[in-house]
Amino acid sequence: MLKHFILSAVSFMLAASVAVAQSFVMDIDLKKQGPAIQATQYGIFFEDINFAADGGLYAELVKNRSFEYPDDHLQGWKAFGKVTVKDDGPFERNPHYVRIADPGHPHKWSGLENEGYFGIGVREGEEYRFSVWARVPGGGSSELRAELVNTASITETQTLCQEKLAVSGDAWKQYEVILKPGSTFDKAALRIFLVGERVTVDLEHVSLFPVDTWKGHRNGLRKDLAQALYDLHPGVFRFPGGCIVEGTDLATRYNWKNTVGPVENRPLNENRWEYTFTHRFFPDYYQSCGLGFFEFFLLSEEIGSEPLPILSCGLACQFQNDDKNAHVPVDGLQPYIQDALDLIEFANGPVDSEWGRLRAEMGHPAPFNLKYIGIGNEQWGSLYTERLEPFVKAIRAAHPEIRIVGSSGPNSEGEQFDYLWPEMRRIGVDLVDEHFYRPYNWFLSQGARYDNYDRKGPKVFAGEYACHARGAKWNHAYASLLEAAFMTGIERNADVVHMATYAPLFAHVEGWQWRPDLIWFDNLRSFRTASWHVQELYGRFKGTNMLALKMSGANVTGAEGQGGLFASAVSDGNRIYVKVANTSEESRDISFNFTGLKKKDVVRAVEGVRLDCSDRLAENTLEDPFKVVPEGFRFDGEGRQIDASVPPLSFSVFVLTVQ
Ligand code: AHR
Repeated sequence: MLKHFILSAVSFMLAASVAVAQSFVMDIDLKKQGPAIQATQYGIFFEDINFAADGGLYAELVKNRSFEYPDDHLQGWKAFGKVTVKDDGPFERNPHYVRIADPGHPHKWSGLENEGYFGIGVREGEEYRFSVWARVPGGGSSELRAELVNTASITETQTLCQEKLAVSGDAWKQYEVILKPGSTFDKAALRIFLVGERVTVDLEHVSLFPVDTWKGHRNGLRKDLAQALYDLHPGVFRFPGGCIVEGTDLATRYNWKNTVGPVENRPLNENRWEYTFTHRFFPDYYQSCGLGFFEFFLLSEEIGSEPLPILSCGLACQFQNDDKNAHVPVDGLQPYIQDALDLIEFANGPVDSEWGRLRAEMGHPAPFNLKYIGIGNEQWGSLYTERLEPFVKAIRAAHPEIRIVGSSGPNSEGEQFDYLWPEMRRIGVDLVDEHFYRPYNWFLSQGARYDNYDRKGPKVFAGEYACHARGAKWNHAYASLLEAAFMTGIERNADVVHMATYAPLFAHVEGWQWRPDLIWFDNLRSFRTASWHVQELYGRFKGTNMLALKMSGANVTGAEGQGGLFASAVSDGNRIYVKVANTSEESRDISFNFTGLKKKDVVRAVEGVRLDCSDRLAENTLEDPFKVVPEGFRFDGEGRQIDASVPPLSFSVFVLTVQ
């Protein structure tokens, strides 16, 4: 009995010491630099969904500024006194405007009030540029008063600030005045009174912008939101979507030519997402196109990204159109193909070419240096391939330098995917766009997804992805951890996956229809989700070359026996960045074992950055924007082997240097 007890105790102690000592050894080969990491490796997907453009990134604060909302030309406005809508205005593609006349009684008023997008957010002491195209139809002069008001106020006055504006002559001219509110309010309204002698006046394209936009552009972007893009270190910027490229029908597809030139004359487009979700329905969701292709190219340049426009291939959204006749017939594609060729000219053409001239007139004579173009979004079947082919032929013939992105359909695998990949090879596109909005177990099982992809065929653009947990469909810490884990597989296969963009990008807290999303905002505030921080870490520690990292000769992909670990490594000069996602509930001891070092060289620990996801459902919010953020940690060591540990449910970036 005693012998048995002693034996058991010894074997227990042995087992315990083995468990304590168990270390996951990651061999990192420094002998030769692996293939280069593409500049485009991690980037941004922009789509006007969830009020991402008007009411979001695009800093215009007035809704329906051109009186073109088709169901009601005064949608978003309250008119009082004597106001009529007219349709022979100065901008042919936006012909409606309002006429404001004397109400006919000295104690009545005529004017308008705009509600903005979920209100108008204004800050105390900041400057807002109110501008309007106006004329006095009978000649002479007239006077307006523009105000920012708090209509919910119970104080003495609703007015936050006001300024007068004189209008003269019967020719249309643009007028402007600066409004400076005395207090901050996220749901102000813009009010315009006809004052003075109350001489009849016509108003068109009524606009209000913060003066302080991103880079100070007049037709500019909201600063905090653009900054959140810049801070991602994005290598590629995909625009304008998504399904929005296709439209609910062809009439509402994204037509880039309608989004360039003077903003006053860019026609309104019905947003593809206006009618899609009746459980979160926004019957006033339109695209002013004030944030159009010129602005997208400019933003790409200013955030250091390669622009990647995606164009309609002549198919209306296939989810929403079973009828073949909803699409452009193959023999009717020429105007669409011409749109693609003209876009390349708009971006890159000389200033004396038709479209290059427009770019120059808009303020950018230098080319935007476009290198990529996508044809079609989530398309599938032969409907797609028979349309894609003539595009590819025409673009190759005219612009062999442009790299073309095709689609693998809406699913990460399955019939459409299996049909399209060989077709993309046959047609000879350069990159294939893959989309996956998938649950936890999909992300946990896909660490090795790209390890055996064909190295000779087209490259991969992981163009839309996000972890969509059932029952936890928001940006919580655990979802971001699984995205980080999955991205080690992208990094390990950077020779075949040349681009990856999380989607969607933005959501207004009151206007969202799809989640999770990378960045959330209201009218004044915004926050960066845990997923944003994962993207930022990959962008910041992108490196320049791949490095082979193995555990017992195998890639670290969360496979059986790998302790829930996913890992990858890259070099950057004499720096090494190792990324480790620990998806298990246990802390893991790891050893980095460096091979292939020159005799005189050693590796030294520099610093670490870690996202703690152990509070699985924790999320950042407007009220608590920094709940899930990366934090620096110290780890030590010098030599050919460096030991560290990774806490349960965490994503760590280890920075080391070779000396
Ligand atoms: O990102 C939201 C939508 O998801 C995109 O518009 C579409 O491409 C995909 O179905």
